[in-house]
Amino acid sequence: MILPVYLYGHPVLRREAETLEADSAELQKLIADMWETMYHSDGVGLAAPQVGKSIRLIVIDGSPMAERFPECAGSKMCLINPEIEVDEDTEVVSREEGCLSLPGLSENVKRHEKLRMRWLDENFKEHEGEFSGFLARIIQHEFDHLLGKVYIDHVSPIRKQLIRSKLNNIVKGKVACEYRVKSATK
Ligand code: NI
Repeated sequence: MILPVYLYGHPVLRREAETLEADSAELQKLIADMWETMYHSDGVGLAAPQVGKSIRLIVIDGSPMAERFPECAGSKMCLINPEIEVDEDTEVVSREEGCLSLPGLSENVKRHEKLRMRWLDENFKEHEGEFSGFLARIIQHEFDHLLGKVYIDHVSPIRKQLIRSKLNNIVKGKVACEYRVKSATK
């Protein structure tokens, strides 16, 4: 089932998400719905708060970007309770990012090039790995959603001022996009 994507301005996107304790039929259904919603909206990542669930759950599939960023090939992952560790000494790179919760916008965001992550997959099996490049960017972007942050929080105040009317329109739900959305006001 395709779920509506909650837009910037909705309080659920500002809440810190809760740790998932146990598997359930409801959880597996939610994961399936998140995959469907992400692919339907041409996203490469979706975090549970973006579908109104304040839990530590993310789906990622960066493979559509693999031609430009080979590290994204075969990157389909379901992340439950992820923990990331960024080496502050590693390179920081600025690249354009977008978000399904902020349709029609893209801004340059500085992110670390490399990170380590521990997570549980959809079967609650533990994994650990190192990620770099654009895939590390997608992970950091989605992980921010679990902390109640959005990428626009990393944009300079001057730049934010310039896009303020666009942001206000998103808060009001005045957006044109081809997937279902839910704004703060309706
Ligand atoms: Ni996002």
